[in-house]
Amino acid sequence: MRRPMRRRLAPAPDPPDNGPVTKLIFDCDPGVDDAIALFLAFASPQDLEILAITTAAGNVAADLTARNAAIIRQIAGREDVPIHAGAQRPLVRPPVGAGDFHGESGLGTLPTFQPAKGVAAGHAANVIVDLIMAHAPGQVTIAATGALTNLALAMRLEPAIVARLGQIAIMGGARREGGNITASAEFNIYADPHAADVVFTSGAKCVVFGLDVTHQVRADPARTAAIATIKTPAAQASANLLEFSNALERDIVGGTGAPIHDPCVIAWLLAPRLFTLRPCALRVETASPLMLGHTAVEFRLADPSTATVQWATRADADSVFALLNERLAR
Ligand code: RIB
Ligand code: CA
Repeated sequence: MRRPMRRRLAPAPDPPDNGPVTKLIFDCDPGVDDAIALFLAFASPQDLEILAITTAAGNVAADLTARNAAIIRQIAGREDVPIHAGAQRPLVRPPVGAGDFHGESGLGTLPTFQPAKGVAAGHAANVIVDLIMAHAPGQVTIAATGALTNLALAMRLEPAIVARLGQIAIMGGARREGGNITASAEFNIYADPHAADVVFTSGAKCVVFGLDVTHQVRADPARTAAIATIKTPAAQASANLLEFSNALERDIVGGTGAPIHDPCVIAWLLAPRLFTLRPCALRVETASPLMLGHTAVEFRLADPSTATVQWATRADADSVFALLNERLAR
């Protein structure tokens, strides 16, 4: 029997330039790939000062995304980071979940439990406003890997946060790749298109990781097996989550490796040179039943230097996995 080809993983990338530590609010909807992104962020305290994890309904209901974030936090040993629950449903449209892709619990087949430490008081939207207003202008970065409901609510609560926040790194949208929840929409944007429209028309600086780039970063069998050899709780949990996603990718999509969408956002924060970005104008369809949640990504700009949105077009997938492996091993 042929031995599975062992992909030669790229050597771990040099550690990030260890510039100033990024003060981060991480808004998510765990969610299998959100969970791996959380492990990556929790394992990088020398690069990321996580001010708060905020959660919303998305892949699964809001009570489950909050509980799941607390489970991942406990496995990672990072109960120092507060979790704040947020939006129970999208701004306008009826709630939609991600169906089978994350399992009933939202964490695939990973054993779930009642975490020792729960969520903190304070709605996510209020906490986002308070943290941004409490820090100097430009100091706070937001990572968003679920529906953008909490962020849109925060912008409506206190519009001053738009100019005050640093930048927003978002997993969402699709251009060349087409949609993954409908023919023309990616799930995070489709789950709350009106919230996405609020964020993308706010003028805030956004870096967007759509399916065009996340579909280049896939947990194929060799990469998943490499993670399974790492004997830390975070790596073992991540391997379990990836094996669940890969089984669905095989059965539903017919592929051999599930894309790790949300970890791309954190990987960019840790090692931006692993990704190629391009300035664009980005608008979201909020009215058409056929195209609801579609992201129109326009590169033809009169003056690209004035663009507030950057679209990720390429990723060095081997190096992303080398970074993920190095951090999961900590
Ligand atoms: O389309 C992929 C996105 O939708 C990811 O963030 C995944 O977690 C789901 O929320
Ligand atoms: Ca997500």
